[in-house]
Amino acid sequence: MKTIKDLELYGKRVIIRCDFNVPIQNGVITDDNRIKASLVTIKHALSKGGKVILMSHLGRIKSEEDKKTKSLKIVAERLEHLLRQDVLFIPETRNVEKKLAKLKNGQIALLENTRFEDYPKQLESKNNQELAKYWASLGDFFINDAFATSHRAHASNVGIATYLPSAIGFLVEKELQQLKKVEDPAHPYVVILGGAKVADKIPLLENLINKADYVLIGGGIANTFIKAKGHEVGKSLIDEDSIEFCKKLMAKSDKIIIPIDVKIAPEISKDVTGEIVNIDQIKPDMQCLDIGPLTLELFKKHLATAKTVVWNGTVGYAELVNFSFGTRELASYLKRLDAITIIGGGDTAAAVIKMGFTGGFSHISTGGGASIEMLEGKELIGIKVINR
Ligand code: 3PG
Repeated sequence: MKTIKDLELYGKRVIIRCDFNVPIQNGVITDDNRIKASLVTIKHALSKGGKVILMSHLGRIKSEEDKKTKSLKIVAERLEHLLRQDVLFIPETRNVEKKLAKLKNGQIALLENTRFEDYPKQLESKNNQELAKYWASLGDFFINDAFATSHRAHASNVGIATYLPSAIGFLVEKELQQLKKVEDPAHPYVVILGGAKVADKIPLLENLINKADYVLIGGGIANTFIKAKGHEVGKSLIDEDSIEFCKKLMAKSDKIIIPIDVKIAPEISKDVTGEIVNIDQIKPDMQCLDIGPLTLELFKKHLATAKTVVWNGTVGYAELVNFSFGTRELASYLKRLDAITIIGGGDTAAAVIKMGFTGGFSHISTGGGASIEMLEGKELIGIKVINR
């Protein structure tokens, strides 16, 4: 596959699609690992004398209001700090030619959040061709280094790549190399699936249960399964549309292991203690925010002999210490397991790194949905387009 090393970048306008979709709380980036992971490619392009134009999305934009908290300006500031170099932040996604024309070789600019184009019309996410052509007109080369977005056919990755000579960056290259190692996993193969993108992840399960020996379900996804079992889930995050699907899946396969106890609390707050209950005791005014100790033991039992483990999505609201028990204990257990262990997803990677568990895993991927799709055996559309 063509990589950035194959291109002569000197004096060229090099668009690098990064994934700067980082967690931000109260205007502060709480985990910058995705930004740090992008630096190798950015530094390479700068050192080769390219005029570097960075693009990324941040969160999902469904209203004008969302735009107020999802600007990439904060990322530009963090980048300046990490690169020790000025980063020209352009607070627009269109009509940016004049500002970009000021870039000299070895200089760098970052455009505003590509998903600002998603409101009012979903131009970025629907890969609008006029938008893709416009963005492509800003560069001479396109580099996809946004591994975590490579399963999306959006204008800022697949769109631009259609109209420009393209290659992958170092981050994507490393992710592909690592994840290819488990395309044909050693068995027993166990997948742990958690996190909050419930509607995104539940459809993946159909394929996953064909490949894996067990799928352990925690976090936000588990609530929909608990509900599908006929239990109260109170105010928990669920995906109503997937309840029937979950019922059928559990009836069809005994590979799906869901929690037997959970930690519930009235709200997501660092000040609540919460209460551990069995899944048939969840109260209507409460929400499930972590797995309980019995579930942890159940998960460990299914992991004990695993030869390959893929973990995608935290099993609780791990940003808060009071709901991080399950995620912390699982990380500590997996680290000591004699198996290939792949941790995937921005939130999971952030939680594990923040808890100090960096070493001991085979690979910590920046991609959540992207890594799962790849491990399902699907070709990532944002990579395929580079290969065309
Ligand atoms: C991720 O966090 O998995 C990527 O940045 C993709 O984000 P998305 O699920 O909003 O497309």
